[in-house]
Amino acid sequence: MQTLLSQLLRDSDENTLWIADENSKSLLDARLSLPGVLLSNRWDIAQAAVAQGICAHFCDFDLTIAGQKYSRIVYPVSKEKAAVHHVINHAPDVLGSEGELVLLGNKSSGIKTYAQKTAARFGCVKHLQKRGNDYLSVSKIDSEASGAALDDSDYTQLRQLDALDGLYSKPGLFGWNKVDIGSALLAGYFESHLPEGNCRAVDLGCGYGYLSARLAGDATANRKLHIEATDNNAAALLACEKNFVTRGIAGRVIAGDAGSEIDSNSADLLVCNPPFHQGFSVEGDLTDRFLTQAARILHKGGTALFVVNEFIPLGRKAQGLFQQVELLNKEKGFCIYRLVK
Ligand SMILES: C[S@@+](CC[C@H](N)C(=O)[O-])C[C@H]1O[C@@H](n2cnc3c(N)ncnc32)[C@H](O)[C@@H]1O
Repeated sequence: MQTLLSQLLRDSDENTLWIADENSKSLLDARLSLPGVLLSNRWDIAQAAVAQGICAHFCDFDLTIAGQKYSRIVYPVSKEKAAVHHVINHAPDVLGSEGELVLLGNKSSGIKTYAQKTAARFGCVKHLQKRGNDYLSVSKIDSEASGAALDDSDYTQLRQLDALDGLYSKPGLFGWNKVDIGSALLAGYFESHLPEGNCRAVDLGCGYGYLSARLAGDATANRKLHIEATDNNAAALLACEKNFVTRGIAGRVIAGDAGSEIDSNSADLLVCNPPFHQGFSVEGDLTDRFLTQAARILHKGGTALFVVNEFIPLGRKAQGLFQQVELLNKEKGFCIYRLVK
């Protein structure tokens, strides 16, 4: 994929849009240059691109964000079907006449089906090439014909879900339409750990804001709670922001990489259900990064409550970063830890 993408970007001009989601992180780390525009739904990727002098935008796949037309859009397809369909549906809005959408993906990415669907949407002939282990689909806009929009699950719409106890969410964020079992278990420990009086809390990797909403729900009248919720994903931030407003949660929602934008020594309480990558991860160990940042963000004596899958050695990893490491519970394949700085 890296070779194919770097070839494509090498041939590109300033009228190229590169849509870079998590699949593109390692490619950007390899310092691919791009004369055009990069758009990413991941804050760390957009930041890395800006640092490399690329004109980059952080957004939830809003193709119109740069306010310009493109002759080519290059998109290594995302894992989530709704996001891919959203891009295929809206590419014609920003492609000039004769403009082309180039999709890349390996065999298991669904690229063959996407090539077919794009051809139908654009009213053009399917053009799919195999290059090594990857496939390349090139679809040119035909101004005469354009097919029906694909089902993108109303990608851009925030919606209130009964399954989330009326919280808002949307496609594009991890586990968007369900309550994570680990998070529900963790929230059961909030009441007993909320300090009396003023409390500054951080929701690290907040998603749509489930843990923040549960914390706010447990805060009684004699507790003044201020929550800073942070995530790397644009859709998560949009949903969480909406939930802060509609639930009247005092605090703010901030983009960042594992809490990078939250002040040091600023929190009494930190709650977290970290993302997890099994096995080798090109992004380094996310659990370590989340733990290190949690220790930085808490003030001395502050408490972090973490939930992780039971095979993640969080207790061992937390030693040395925290004064106290306590396993509160092991249930349903999850471990809940209390860490005191
Ligand atoms: C297991 S989910 C938990 C979401 C939410 N706290 C909940 O309990 O429903 C992990 C969250 O971490 C976020 N995340 C992944 N990588 C991140 C990073 N580098 N920095 C910040 N957040 C990240 C994901 O977008 C996701 O929202």
